[in-house]
Amino acid sequence: MDYLKILGPTPLKGNVKISGAKNAALPLIAMTLLAKNRVCISNIPSVVDIKTLLKLLHNLGATYILQNNCIEVDTCCLNDTKATYDIVKTMRASILVLGPLLSRFGHCEVSLPGGCAIGQRPIDLHLKALEQMGATITIEGGYVKAEAPGGLKGGHILFDKITVTGTANIVMAAALAKGRTIITNAAREPEVVQLCEVLNSSGITIEGIGSSELVIHGTAGELIEIEPFDVIPDRIEAGTYLCAGAITNSSITVDNVRPDHLEAVSGKLEEMGFGIVSNGSSMTITPAKTIKAVNIVTQEYPGFPTDMQAQFLALATQADGATSIEERLFENRFMHVGELQRLGAEIKLNGHVATVKGPTTLFGADVMATDLRASSALVLAGLIAEGETDVHRIYHLDRGYENLQEKLKTLGARSQRLKE
Ligand code: UD1
Repeated sequence: MDYLKILGPTPLKGNVKISGAKNAALPLIAMTLLAKNRVCISNIPSVVDIKTLLKLLHNLGATYILQNNCIEVDTCCLNDTKATYDIVKTMRASILVLGPLLSRFGHCEVSLPGGCAIGQRPIDLHLKALEQMGATITIEGGYVKAEAPGGLKGGHILFDKITVTGTANIVMAAALAKGRTIITNAAREPEVVQLCEVLNSSGITIEGIGSSELVIHGTAGELIEIEPFDVIPDRIEAGTYLCAGAITNSSITVDNVRPDHLEAVSGKLEEMGFGIVSNGSSMTITPAKTIKAVNIVTQEYPGFPTDMQAQFLALATQADGATSIEERLFENRFMHVGELQRLGAEIKLNGHVATVKGPTTLFGADVMATDLRASSALVLAGLIAEGETDVHRIYHLDRGYENLQEKLKTLGARSQRLKE
C-alpha cells in the first residue's frame, strides 16, 4: 500500500491544470449503455473510480480503448446484464448502470452497494422511481433484481430528497422509456446538467435542464447515437487546489476550470479574506491579510458542496476565531476530524456541526485517509504542518484525484509517494 509523505510548511506558487470531473464522467460512461454507436469521450480523468466502472462495463461485454484521457466505448455487443458484487462493493457509483441496463434490456441485476464510509447512503429513491416507471424490483441474495419485460414507461417521479446519482439513473432510464417522464426535485449539479445536455443533443428531448424539474421524452426502446464530447472540469478538484493555495496563504492559479461551477466555494474563500480573480477558464487565489472565521452549511448545488466540507475544515484551522461547519447531506462525514486533531487541530464535534478554533500551528504526524475527500483534507493540513506528515491509505485519493502528488509538486509542495 502506498502512502504520501509531506514535508511542511511550504508556500505554493504557480499553475495547476484541473482534470475532467470524475462525478460527471461516471454517469456519462454509464450513458454509453444507451448508445448504438461507439462513443468517444475526451477529458476523462485518469482515476481509479473510472477504471472500476470501465471494468464493470467490460464484464458486461462492452469494449473500450482508453488513451490520453480519451475513451471510445462500444456497448453494442453486451452479453450480460449483471453488475457483480466484487466491483460494486468497491464503488457505490456502480449503481449508475441500473437505469440504463434496465431501460435497454428490460431486466438486470445490480449488487447492492452496501455500507459506505460516509454514512448509510441507501438507494431506495432510485428503486422507488424505477417501480413508478413500471419495473418490478426484488432484492435477492444481496442483488437488486429489476424486471420490465415490456420496457419502462414514463411517469411522474417526485424525489423526497435531492439525489445526484438517483437523478442521473432515472434520467438515463427515462431516455429509452415509453412516453414522458417528469422528475420533480431533481438534482441541479453541473454533472447532472452535462448528462442531460449530452442526451439532449443525442435525440432525447429534455426540458428544464439545470432546474429542479426535468421532463424527459423517451424513445420507447430505440438506442441513440451519441456524438463525441468533452467532460466538464472537476469543480471539486479545482476547489481542493484553491484550498491548497488558501491554507498555505499563497497565490496559485487553477487552469481549465468553470468558475461558474465554483461560485459557492470561491464566495466562501472571499468571505474568509482571500482574493479570487477569474479569467476565462482560470481562477487565481491571492493571500488574505487575516484569514477570517466563517459559517459553512453543506447543501445541494448551487449551495456549498459536501465534497468540499473536509477541505474547508482543514483550512479553518488557520482562520482567526471559531469557524462553524454544518454537514447536512451525510450523517457520518466527519471522520477526518480525529485525524486532523492528531496534527494539533482544535475541533469540537456536536452531532452534525464541527466548530474549529484557529489559528493553530499544526505538527506533522501519521494520519489515515478514510474516504476520498477526507484524505484531501489531510494532505492540505500536511502542507502547513511543521515537519513530516505521512498520509496512509492514499488509495482513497487515487479514486478521485488525478496525479495529485505530481500536481502538488508543480506548485512547489515537498511530497513523496512511498510504499508502506
Ligand atoms: C453524489 C456524489 C458525491 C456527493 C453527493 C452529494 C457521485 C458519483 N457522487 O453521491 O460525491 O458527495 O452526490 O453531493 O456523483 N439518499 C437516500 N436515498 C437514495 C439516495 C440518496 O436517502 O436513494 C440520501 C443520501 O443518503 C444522502 C443524500 O440523499 O443523504 C444525497 O445523496 P446523493 O445525492 O444520492 O449522493 P450520491 O449520488 O451517492
